[in-house]
Amino acid sequence: MNPGRKFDDVDVLVIGAGLAGFSAAWSAAKNGLKVIIITGQEKVTESSSYYAQGGIIYKAANDDFKTFYNDFNKAGAGYVNEKAVSEIFSNVQEFIDEILVKEIQVPFDKTDDDQISLTKEAAHSRARIAHVKDQTGKAIQEHFHQKISLHPNITIINKATATDLITLAHHSVEETHIYEPSTCVGAYVLFQDTGQVYPILSKYTILATGGLGRVYLHTSNPVTARGDGYAMAYRAGARIMNMEYTQFHPTTLFSADEERFLITEAIRGEGGVLRNINGDEFMKNYHEMGDLAPRDIVSRSIIKELSRTNSHFVYLDISHKNSQWTKERFPMIYQKCMEKKIDITTSGIPVVPAAHYECGGIFINKVGDTTINRLKAVGETACTGLHGANRLASSSLAECLVYGTSAGIDCFNNIKNTKFIIPKVESWKSENESVDPDLLWQDYLTIRQTMWNYCGIVRTKKKLDRAYYILKKLEKDIVHFYSHSKLSDDLIGLRNSALASILVIHASKLNKQSKGCHYRID
Ligand code: SIN
Repeated sequence: MNPGRKFDDVDVLVIGAGLAGFSAAWSAAKNGLKVIIITGQEKVTESSSYYAQGGIIYKAANDDFKTFYNDFNKAGAGYVNEKAVSEIFSNVQEFIDEILVKEIQVPFDKTDDDQISLTKEAAHSRARIAHVKDQTGKAIQEHFHQKISLHPNITIINKATATDLITLAHHSVEETHIYEPSTCVGAYVLFQDTGQVYPILSKYTILATGGLGRVYLHTSNPVTARGDGYAMAYRAGARIMNMEYTQFHPTTLFSADEERFLITEAIRGEGGVLRNINGDEFMKNYHEMGDLAPRDIVSRSIIKELSRTNSHFVYLDISHKNSQWTKERFPMIYQKCMEKKIDITTSGIPVVPAAHYECGGIFINKVGDTTINRLKAVGETACTGLHGANRLASSSLAECLVYGTSAGIDCFNNIKNTKFIIPKVESWKSENESVDPDLLWQDYLTIRQTMWNYCGIVRTKKKLDRAYYILKKLEKDIVHFYSHSKLSDDLIGLRNSALASILVIHASKLNKQSKGCHYRID
């Protein structure tokens, strides 16, 4: 892509290349719209969707809305949005059949009679999860990427990082645009290879930037999950909600360093059990659903068990199953653990909870509209209310597919009927001071340690106040050196991470009631 090119004929700018971004781009492009997808990554498929192991909610043969809704609502601590659950229930099976199976040709695991094989995961009362071994997200993303990169209406630009959304009121050179309703007309984008920033103007902009797990010291998330979408939307004035509901996945592989590799919940869905350091099963002591209790409960139970037994990890044990079956059902986890000299067919896997998913986000309706005109958000960065206060397993890929697809179709419906203002906008003013990488690294570490220690699985007023104090001060310093420095992807991420963290802390401070994954002991 020639970075000097003028981007003046774009129908839809999609920021982010996970399943939500791909689904939106695909449905818009199929309807004839011209779409640009940008991602800050070199490898286009790098996203949280790619690393989703367990699967995607399909529909059990005997599913009915009441059962489906009850499962979501129980896991979500009674706080889910029924309308959002209904969107998933009504659309997900059709979209998987039509888009993922027919068009994208994702090789879902099949039963002997050639039906999609369905498994169970925590807090699901039925087996309704479609999967591709233990690499469902990877299979979907690789197949989707292949199709998308061949589509004539879609241009993918990698190593291109959105710095800020462009709005009529903030960036148009036409002064009177200040009187227009809040409207997004694209984004400023850093082209990493040249260091230049250009505006990409579009009729619609779709944020599909994923979550913020990387603001925590320990997380299952890839480097992309640094809160970019929340921060950009907040600066542009969008409504953001439910940010205190940060989900911690109960089972990530323990290691002495900070890295945490996800060990899918499907292991417990297939009969795996949690044992403490003494080898005792413990989940029945905490919840009637035992090992298949909702994630927030399992994570807190593990924390209690660690403290009770004075240990650093618990074991997830699937060694009672046939070893050949385990190797075939969970090949990647088997291999990853073998690299660490853990044979999961004969011994337990040492696991601990880690930050996994942000249930809150940018408020949207059923077609992805935010509170800013022409700005949509889809996937983890958005909040539909589907997850309430705690997400049900394997619902995130389903939400990406359903809401992403609906958002793309809605762009088409609106663009065909409307004349859009595409303004002339201020060009980006570059600064030249270089950033000391030690400063950047230390600031990032401060954010991650503060979030883990003071805004983690168990929260108190004192800890949250301390976190707020640290982050507010740090953010001021970061914004100061951001505005004087040569722009880089890391610097953009640091500024966004600081702001996204403040959004989580602020919401956590305001909400004094424990619910789902927001757990306060004061
Ligand atoms: C898992 O496989 O346990 C993670 C996928 C999800 O968060 O739904």
